[in-house]
Amino acid sequence: MTSQETIAIFDKYVIGNYRRYPVSLVRGEGSYIWDAEGVRYLDLFPGWGCNLIGHCPPRVSQAVSEQVGKLIHVPNTWYMEAQGLLAKALVERSGLDAQCFFCNSGTEANEAAIKLARLNGKPKGRYKIITMLNSFHGRTYGALSATAQPKYHKGVEPMLAGFQYAPFGDLEAATKLVDAETCAIMIEPIQGEGGINLPPAGYLEGLRTLCDQHGLMLIFDEVQTGMGRTGTWFAFQNFGVEPDALTLAKALAGGVACGGLLAKRTVADKLVPGTHAATFGGNPIACAAALATIDTIEKDKLLPRAEHIANAFRARFEALQSRCPLIQQIRIKGTMIGVELSIDGTPIVDACLKRKLLINCTHGNVIRLLPALNLPDDALHAGCDIIDEVLLGQKI
Ligand SMILES: Cc1ncc(COP(=O)(O)O)c(C=O)c1O
Repeated sequence: MTSQETIAIFDKYVIGNYRRYPVSLVRGEGSYIWDAEGVRYLDLFPGWGCNLIGHCPPRVSQAVSEQVGKLIHVPNTWYMEAQGLLAKALVERSGLDAQCFFCNSGTEANEAAIKLARLNGKPKGRYKIITMLNSFHGRTYGALSATAQPKYHKGVEPMLAGFQYAPFGDLEAATKLVDAETCAIMIEPIQGEGGINLPPAGYLEGLRTLCDQHGLMLIFDEVQTGMGRTGTWFAFQNFGVEPDALTLAKALAGGVACGGLLAKRTVADKLVPGTHAATFGGNPIACAAALATIDTIEKDKLLPRAEHIANAFRARFEALQSRCPLIQQIRIKGTMIGVELSIDGTPIVDACLKRKLLINCTHGNVIRLLPALNLPDDALHAGCDIIDEVLLGQKI
């Protein structure tokens, strides 16, 4: 089918809750993707962060093919080898004395974390959770209530009770919100959708201390930062601040739907039978894909690539900034890359698409790239050349 034919079917049969580019994508390989007309695009935002090791990573494709021929789905009333091995692999790489729960998406992982925080706080009558302004935790009601951005609440209020919001980076504000009913603080160690916002020095450490002082759970939403994107398996390892629980999804299974909660044993035992579940959670296909993802990151030595890619983009964008006054700030950690502009970023994304480059704009004016860890250097520079051309071509 041509892109136009697919679009015509969507117009008639698919609910229009997404703004879509007028292109039907049919095939991907590494950092490239092709449309129905055979046009190739360089993808610096592969799968909204899900394809951290590129499109169709060979080991993941193979593991999934093998798994579908053996066992596609069994419920969590049974033991499954792949789920057990994945939990072990994640816990070992976290260095935490923890256990895992699996689901299918980031929002579900956060629902699990929110429930765990409440179950843990319940004996002391605690249920409130502090989250940060400009956070993004997902679209289901618990995670949406945790997401401190009014634009996502508009029209679907009231939100779940008990969420309080502090500005990201402001330890004093978070401290002021803690009361006898607070059970947890939940935060993205680096805000993604909110504009690639890095935590100020000492901030995460301060939150850890605050949680310790008041007996609160510290939850890191690592849905976007996790699985090596920041150069360590989990972003918390960059900052040396251990959370009590962390959530994963996006890149966890190399592009296959998979979410997870890693919780320290001190709290994990509150999730007893009957408290939480996900029918498809931890299914053999997703877990086989996740194990192959971990295998690929290790065998291809991709963790150190994060810093290499960060440095290369930083050098390119700093060079561009000296010639382009539209660039206000460059924020980079590993393959989380944000370039804040003084103008709306949407036309920039559109202009890049015309030049067969896929990027993203978040928070109105932040160009966001979440490139794959195995993005080749020549592709990185080809992408930067296009961004240079587009930004330098803007009328000021
Ligand atoms: C930090 C963070 N948490 C949660 C989510 C929600 O994940 P999902 O769309 O898989 O539900 C996202 C998605 O962008 C995210 O970036």
